[in-house]
Amino acid sequence: MPEIVFDKVSIGYHGNVVAEDLTFTLEIDDFLVIFGPNGAGKTTLAKTILGILRPLKGETYVFGCPITGVCPHKKMIGYVPQIYNIDRGFPATLYDVVISGCYPLLKPLQEIPQMFKEQAMANLKTVGLLDFKDTPFAHLSGGQQKRGLIARALMGPPKVLLLDEPTSGVDMASEIQVNEVIVNTHKTAQIPVILITHDVNPYFKVATKFILMGYGTYFIGSFDEVIRPEVLSEVYQTKVDVVSKGGLRFINVRDVHHDRNA
Ligand SMILES: Nc1ncnc2c1ncn2[C@@H]1O[C@H](COP(=O)(O)OP(=O)(O)OP(=O)(O)O)[C@@H](O)[C@H]1O
Ligand SMILES: [Mg+2]
Repeated sequence: MPEIVFDKVSIGYHGNVVAEDLTFTLEIDDFLVIFGPNGAGKTTLAKTILGILRPLKGETYVFGCPITGVCPHKKMIGYVPQIYNIDRGFPATLYDVVISGCYPLLKPLQEIPQMFKEQAMANLKTVGLLDFKDTPFAHLSGGQQKRGLIARALMGPPKVLLLDEPTSGVDMASEIQVNEVIVNTHKTAQIPVILITHDVNPYFKVATKFILMGYGTYFIGSFDEVIRPEVLSEVYQTKVDVVSKGGLRFINVRDVHHDRNA
């Protein structure tokens, strides 16, 4: 059985259907990239996968259990949210934030087991931030905070890693570091990854599946099924090319105002 199954699922909020008829699976070796314009429903889909939002229609399963039912494994999805607000006055260190990833796995008032303390240190090492463990989280740069949140999501360890725009707002060098952590975790820990992003190009080598969410429409499948100029141009309502260069392929949004060939 796949890790996650969505069968003809509608997602959204009370009286507001955001996307309908979503059908896909996430297998153990998948690296699923979800992308599409602002407001298309990517975060709504993430929250439905996590069981935070109830699906409006259709069948949904995580690790073999209906998402809406009791599922002991539901907490085993490591989640990096799109927005993580931390009160700047709250003196939580990076270590405090990382270790908090195990709280949902503890019984009420249970002391943190040594195993999780060691895991927090190992995860900090994985994301290259061991030296910053005692730094107040609010004092870290945006890229460091994102890597810290990945270390937090890796507590458990999770059975699936779900990241909502983990590289938004970080500089190019930090983006490369964050991407490396995600791809290496997928490969070495053999965890399936669901990654929501506006920049799909860095993931073409590793991604096994894509979901392109548009307004009231979506495309799901392999690179060849989804990363097509006609599909992308329709969803983004602008001219989009798929370019091959030096053995690599990437999406290029054409600036119609400056492109003499347009
Ligand atoms: N809590 C909410 N209640 C009602 N509607 C919401 C809520 N959160 C989001 N929406 C609406 O659902 C739609 C999808 O929003 P969502 O946040 O899933 O988009 P997104 O694809 O993640 O966008 P972005 O790329 O900007 O992050 C939008 O029209 C949004 O206004
Ligand atoms: Mg979003």
